[in-house]
Amino acid sequence: MRDIFDAIQKSAKRIKDAIDVKDIGYSQQENSSGETQLELDIKCDMIIEEEFSKVSSINTIASEEKEHEEVLHANGKYFIAYDPLDGSSLIDVNLSVGSIFGIYEGAFGTEKMVAACYVVYGPRVEMVFAQNKTKLYLLQAGEFEFVKEIRLGEKGKIMAPGGTQQNWEKYHKAMIDGFFAEGYRLRYSGGMVPDLHQILLKGGGLFSYPATSDKPKGKLRRLFEVFPFAFVYKTSGGEAIDGKNELMSLGHAHIHDTSPCFFGSKYEVDRVKEVYAKNA
Ligand code: AHG
Ligand code: MN
Ligand code: MN
Ligand code: MN
Repeated sequence: MRDIFDAIQKSAKRIKDAIDVKDIGYSQQENSSGETQLELDIKCDMIIEEEFSKVSSINTIASEEKEHEEVLHANGKYFIAYDPLDGSSLIDVNLSVGSIFGIYEGAFGTEKMVAACYVVYGPRVEMVFAQNKTKLYLLQAGEFEFVKEIRLGEKGKIMAPGGTQQNWEKYHKAMIDGFFAEGYRLRYSGGMVPDLHQILLKGGGLFSYPATSDKPKGKLRRLFEVFPFAFVYKTSGGEAIDGKNELMSLGHAHIHDTSPCFFGSKYEVDRVKEVYAKNA
């Protein structure tokens, strides 16, 4: 795990440098989610693959930007699923982006999640690593320094409601409106890493990306985005559900499968459960 942690740190520093250089635009390729890949999506994916190739304990990797999983070391015990550059469409307007990693033990197909990690490339580069506890690190003078442990409160003040409102279910809209009527404040950048990071560090709230009429299975990808954040939130004392079930309990038929998702503190997620039990 120490080697994986180091490889993620090395990748993060190289990705930060790649982001800093210049806007290198779109490629001619689409990924499995049907998105046109940025050159930077592909570059960040290559950086991570290169760093993970040096770690013999990593058996298999899967990436948002690769169609299939790939075996790196047949004798390794870990499987890692990652989103190399989350929020990449925000690069051109200079908003924060991130990298997301879900780390599993066991052969691919029977894997069990043991840790999750994400990196935020904002005004500063920060890393959050969740194993038994959730820990925050800050990149300072080329090294990631431990800052503090993160715990979520029981109830927060922030609302990050994803998806196109026009395509929300009526009861979903009523629920979100209800939170705003209670005093919640809108904080949504369109990058799930900074949006979920803000809720974690400011003590709680709700991030939602529901099923919508245009995306009945949600937008966010289970392996690359949803499961890692579910692990981080659960480890930090928060909740992570698909409207009804624990996100961590959902499997996947295909590595690019998506799921509706709700992450937050207990108070807000309990409300989601109530509303969805009545309506969905
Ligand atoms: P990616 O850049 O890896 O393709 O993911 C973007 C995701 C996520 O970061 C964000 O929360 C969501 O897309 C935003 O979607 P909407 O634009 O539909 O709100
Ligand atoms: Mn993408
Ligand atoms: Mn993403
Ligand atoms: Mn991505």
